[in-house]
Amino acid sequence: MYTVSSPRITYSSEFRNSANPFRDKFGGIADDNWKDVWLTTETCSNIQGIEFPTIPEQQLQSQIHGSSSWQISMGEAFAFYEFVKSSGALDGAKCFLDFGCGWGRMTRPFMRDFDLGKIYGFEPNALHAIIARSLNPYFTVFTGGFSPDGSIPKDWFDLVVGWSIFSHLSEKSLKEWLTEICSVLRPGGHAVFTTWGIRFLKRLQGEQALLDAGQEIHWYSKQCLDGVGNISKRIADYENGDFIWFTNTDSTEYGEAFLGEKALNRFVSELDLPMEVTTFDATSLAQDVFILRKRQW
Ligand SMILES: C[S@@+](CC[C@H](N)C(=O)[O-])C[C@H]1O[C@@H](n2cnc3c(N)ncnc32)[C@H](O)[C@@H]1O
Repeated sequence: MYTVSSPRITYSSEFRNSANPFRDKFGGIADDNWKDVWLTTETCSNIQGIEFPTIPEQQLQSQIHGSSSWQISMGEAFAFYEFVKSSGALDGAKCFLDFGCGWGRMTRPFMRDFDLGKIYGFEPNALHAIIARSLNPYFTVFTGGFSPDGSIPKDWFDLVVGWSIFSHLSEKSLKEWLTEICSVLRPGGHAVFTTWGIRFLKRLQGEQALLDAGQEIHWYSKQCLDGVGNISKRIADYENGDFIWFTNTDSTEYGEAFLGEKALNRFVSELDLPMEVTTFDATSLAQDVFILRKRQW
């Protein structure tokens, strides 16, 4: 059971007169200082007179994205933010979507980059969506189907990000969502998503050896190992360009997904999407990351 506390919003002129008071106060500071501001919110919610979003209980953070501390949760969010920023995908973008936003973690670093009214999240788990809204009333969270059902406005966003969503979706589901994301992006807009890669398969292989030797491993690795089957074959298939997906549950949509560059390009081409893969980076972040750009025509 979780309890969620919402920020105590006061009727403040800053929010009445500005499209984004976070940008007004913190838009000019270095990324590292902006990160420090968010780290401070663990113990202090009012910074320079601005009431910040509240933070979820540790157990909820761990359940949704596996992090064991606020420092790690925000560290991952800022590493992703800085990656997106340095890619140029943020340049000139006016409307933002955090796809599969969970409790809204990845949105937070971006809260100084857009008008607050242009910051959106999408989360198909209705409870996660409610929690995200309660913790952070400054952004708008849509909910909708686990498969696309038209809940997200078309041709609307300049930048869509999704951390650890295409790390889980099955081939059918990822193809449906890639098509939908393409339709909600404006021409010239970017989507930045993460996925599992060969690093995680090899880590699981190492952890299987530890387990066989009687050692303890992380609960999430154990869960993955329950579904992976023959890891050496999975690694060979991935290196051969196959998309890899498995689960230890009876879900046909959500498990562990390893979308390599070859498979991604193949899917984009098979689906005939007006998008190109501009970046595939398998080293910079904790998960592999790729960027799609919607064509102008
Ligand atoms: C590992 S969490 C990541 C949450 C968030 N992006 C973060 O990094 O904190 C995966 C999220 O994907 C959502 N999800 C599950 N099935 C989905 C689907 N079919 N389509 C889109 N999102 C899905 C889950 O509800 C969950 O919030």
